[in-house]
Amino acid sequence: MQQPLLVAREVTKKFQSGHDEITVLDNMDVTIYTGEMVAIIGESGTGKTTLLQVLGGLSSPDNGSLSLNSTPIKMTNEKKQSDFRNKEIGFVFQFHHLLPEFTALENTMMPGLISGVPYTQLKKEATELLGKVGLSRQLTQPITELSGGEQQRVALARALIMQPSILLADEPTGNLDPQTGDLVFDLIREINHEFNLTTVMVTHNHHLAEKMDRCLTLKDGILVESPF
Ligand SMILES: Nc1ncnc2c1ncn2[C@@H]1O[C@H](COP(=O)(O)OP(=O)(O)O)[C@@H](O)[C@H]1O
Ligand SMILES: [Mg+2]
Repeated sequence: MQQPLLVAREVTKKFQSGHDEITVLDNMDVTIYTGEMVAIIGESGTGKTTLLQVLGGLSSPDNGSLSLNSTPIKMTNEKKQSDFRNKEIGFVFQFHHLLPEFTALENTMMPGLISGVPYTQLKKEATELLGKVGLSRQLTQPITELSGGEQQRVALARALIMQPSILLADEPTGNLDPQTGDLVFDLIREINHEFNLTTVMVTHNHHLAEKMDRCLTLKDGILVESPF
């Protein structure tokens, strides 16, 4: 039986835009099940990034509730919220957001350094993860010397270092050429399977969305199941 992992109920998110208020998420419900890979598609500006930020606790909803593994996600305390994100949620963005002055290994270790994981253990785990994403030979290379696909693979390793419950990826292949994008996508799929991870991925690429378990379209503030 499918086990619900991330559940959002009646979630509303609005933004003030000049004098106008725009409702980006409008009483939205979604249930993401353990182990699945879910694609989110939708036109530009419909709120896909906002949705991932709300699901991952980067942004608080104006209304509604969220829970992860049956535990309510309460956004009352900034410190608790950031600890929660750091431990439970792995984020990969369209632009990698890596720290350019650090190496691949240091970037991968960063979430663990922030939450006080012992250095030796952390370094071992980060080295293993970078090996998994095919970067064993680039461990000590500065981020700026890596290709776009390699940088996104470091971002993926960094997202996984805390063994999150869920990976949220916002157009992770959108900035890569199609061939490199496919490789990064295949890697995410392999890792999702191997680590029994759960992935929610925003993509404009229907050919990638079709390879996932389920596809949801964000339109008019809600998610609807979409046939491929
Ligand atoms: N921090 C913000 N302040 C005001 N408006 C925002 C903010 N973030 C997003 N928006 C608006 O919300 C809508 C959805 O944006 P976004 O979630 O980035 O859409 P998508 O990722 O689908 O392109 C857009 O109209 C955008 O301008
Ligand atoms: Mg976006």
